[in-house]
Amino acid sequence: MAPTSAELQRLATVITRRTGMAFPSSRMPFLTARARAVMAWAGADNWDSWLSELEASAGNDDRLCEALEEALQVHETCFFRYPGHHALLSDVVLPDSLAAGATRLRILSVGCSTGQEAYSLAMTARENLGGDAPRQVEILGVDVGRAALAAARRGIYGPLSVATVPPLYLERYFEPDGAAFTARPELRAMVRFLRHDIRRELYLGKFDAIFCCNVCLYFMRPTKDQILARLTAALRRGGYLFLGHAEGVTPPVDNFRTIHRPSGVVFQRIPA
Ligand SMILES: C[S@@+](CC[C@H](N)C(=O)[O-])C[C@H]1O[C@@H](n2cnc3c(N)ncnc32)[C@H](O)[C@@H]1O
Repeated sequence: MAPTSAELQRLATVITRRTGMAFPSSRMPFLTARARAVMAWAGADNWDSWLSELEASAGNDDRLCEALEEALQVHETCFFRYPGHHALLSDVVLPDSLAAGATRLRILSVGCSTGQEAYSLAMTARENLGGDAPRQVEILGVDVGRAALAAARRGIYGPLSVATVPPLYLERYFEPDGAAFTARPELRAMVRFLRHDIRRELYLGKFDAIFCCNVCLYFMRPTKDQILARLTAALRRGGYLFLGHAEGVTPPVDNFRTIHRPSGVVFQRIPA
């Protein structure tokens, strides 16, 4: 049975309160489909009583809300999603940070999903720094999705996933295995994955560059602002913030400068 529009609104309200996720009318079919799957998992078939259960439990960290939140994550990603970011990493971030005396650069991939963004950053670093890259660059991918993180750690990708990896990089950095491709040890050596909810305090130290792409767009304004505040606070002075093209956040201004290049835009925390 389809939910009534009032039931759908109740569902959106409870999820938004609990998670900060945004559900404009365009995302209601997605919300309905994912909620249906969780209802089936919970053995429920009546929207009204299921919603009452959900409303009663919200805020108590219960399994139902957690399952729903997990089901509502969008893990879509690909290798080298924003080529301009990689050009900026090669032309600005790596040379300028190393010239400024950094000995080991820490890069954070926020909402890393199944790992393609983090491995792409590692490939760009290796292309620029050669065999020194694992000593000079460390990439940390964080996500809330357990299954996505497990896939990121496995580092095995199908032919469709690697379609956006330049053929030369595919040969250099992946081991073919039947129809699949496994990230080689030299790539894995640069990348770590950790489960972390970016809405919570980041106790992960300071970073030289943070990539936050296609994560904030799913949240309401106060949650976006909170995430951005945490990320800017986690940047070292002189560090760089990369945002997805549809992130929908207000880019940082205080203590930041905007660097425009033909390949794109990056926000740099003013060096000391
Ligand atoms: C659409 S994917 C983006 C992947 C990659 N950054 C890219 O641009 O291709 C969004 C990822 O953000 C993750 N995510 C959503 N909310 C999060 C949160 N609060 N903390 C950490 N990761 C989150 C999701 O699990 C999902 O894997």
